[in-house]
Parts: sequence; C-alpha cells; structure tokens
Amino acid sequence: MITPEIKERLAKAIKGEKHISFLVGAGLSAESGIPTFRDKDGYWMPGSPNYTPQQMATWRMFCQQPLVIWNWYLNRFHICYQAKPNAGHFAIKDLQDLFPERFALITQNVDGLHFQTGMNSKQIYSIHGDLRFMRCAAACHKDLIPLPNQLKNRGLQEKLTKEEIMLLQCSDCSGFYRPHVLWFDEIYNEEYYKIHTVKYTAINTDLLFIIGTSGATNLPNQVFQLALRNNTTVIDINPNSSLFTAEILYSPNGYWIKEKSGEALPLIVEEMRKLKTEIV
Ligand code: APR
Repeated sequence: MITPEIKERLAKAIKGEKHISFLVGAGLSAESGIPTFRDKDGYWMPGSPNYTPQQMATWRMFCQQPLVIWNWYLNRFHICYQAKPNAGHFAIKDLQDLFPERFALITQNVDGLHFQTGMNSKQIYSIHGDLRFMRCAAACHKDLIPLPNQLKNRGLQEKLTKEEIMLLQCSDCSGFYRPHVLWFDEIYNEEYYKIHTVKYTAINTDLLFIIGTSGATNLPNQVFQLALRNNTTVIDINPNSSLFTAEILYSPNGYWIKEKSGEALPLIVEEMRKLKTEIV
C-alpha cells in the first residue's frame, strides 16, 4: 500500500515547513456506521434504505416545513451521536499530535466524530457546518448554540414533541433556530464555513490527504485544484474512484490508495512517525 515513491513523498513533506492537511468526506465515517451520501446506502441515493430527497437539505424546504426538517436532522444527529470514531479518525488525531504546528483538517462531515477523539479543534475547519450546533434562522444574533442535550438522546422519532419544539425556539426573537449546516441553496462564507481560510491553507500545504470524498462539492474541489497547482503532494484514500481520480492519476504529484481509510490511515501515520524520528 505504501509504495517507495509514496514513502519518499511522505519524507519530503516531513522535511517541509508548510501545512500537512486533510480534506475529509463522509467515507471517513462510513466505518463508524454513518451512511454516506452517494454510495449505494447513501442519503441522496434513490433506492437506498436511507434515501432522502436532497430538497431536505435546503433553506427553502426549512422555510416551508421547519419541523419536518428539524426532525430529519435530529434523527440524523441521533445516528451520528450513537456512532463512535473509527481507526481513521484516531489516525488523523495522531497525525495532529505528530505535527501540531503544521496540521490542518478541512472536513465536510457534520457528525462531530473528529471532536470525540480529543483533537485540538483550533485547526479543524468544518466547511459544511456541525450538527452539534444550531443558530437563529432569522439571524437575530450570529451565535452558535450547542444543541440541547434533550435533543441529542431522543432516539429516532416520526415527529417533534411539544417540548422539543420549545427547545428549538430562539431565546431572543422566539423564531426557530436552524441546524448549523450548509444547505444546497446556500453559499460558503468565511464566518461560518471558513472558505477563505481553507483556500489559503490549500495553497500553503506540502502534503494533502483526501479521505473518503466523492469530490461532488464546490469548495473541496477548489481546495484540491489549488493544492495540485501548487505542487502539493496529494494522496487520495478511497476504495472507489471519485471525481478527483482522473486528475490525481494524471498528476506527477497525485497518488491514489484504493483502500478504506480505517485501514490505510493508521499505516500511513505509523510510517510518518518512523520517518519523523529518522529525519527530525
Ligand atoms: N474509506 C474511505 N472512503 C470511503 C469509505 C471508506 N471506508 N467508504 C466509502 N468511501 C468513499 C466513497 O467511495 C465515496 O467516494 O467515500 C465517498 C463518499 O462520497 P459522498 O457520499 O459523496 O460523501 P462526500 O464526498 O462527503 O459528500 C460531500 O456532499 O451533500 C453534500 O453535505 C454533503 O458533505 C457532503 C458533501
């Protein structure tokens, strides 16, 4: 799995000074039992047992049916809350511990599993939001409010209870809170989704690991393109091909490890630990 050429690239990156970054998608959490979006059991895949119309992830639908949308997100949150980080999550934390000053994690995952590993959240950029938080839908204030514990352990339910609806009302304007997630009919910004920070990180990265993402979304694509055009070594860990694969295979700086992240990442981090002791 770790070819001599990849090993050489890992050593070169360790000798560097720029970031060692991760761009992560739902595939990292697949081995924790959380459905992805576009695999056969994915949320967006018609025929999947978890199929949900993508319209559920839009501001427009939230405005029309806030309680239906909240119930769907709270059920998703319950699945995430029951899940545990897997070996891939812990390997990423170990890499943060190995290179604390250079580490950066750009995650599309809203499941909160990175934070359950005890990672330092300073260098984690949750570019699609975080289901552990909500915010006022009318933006009467900009604060991120932690999801109340009563809403975390509610189990899977058909609809919201009266008590739950009251917990979802903004304490300032009495309108609804909304999940702190980026919807399909919304745009990335710096305030909530760190668009400029992650693009700056991408052009200042020596080694970019792409983990478990199909490449279907905009900002991750920009991160990938910026890194590849800045001579960054890009290592994609995914058992299937993705929208990144062709360019990765064509690029002299691109490598595709066709494995599950829970298997490949611990081996790679172990190799980097060994190389670091030899180099530094
Ligand atoms: N290890 C590594 N990769 C895996 C694993 C695994 N064990 N299992 C699945 N994958 C890969 C799949 O091959 C696929 O390429 O993870 C990828 C999951 O792709 P998507 O389901 O499209 O998820 P993601 O890329 O994270 O979607 C991006 O789209 O709808 C939005 O907000 C949503 O954040 C999400 C974004």
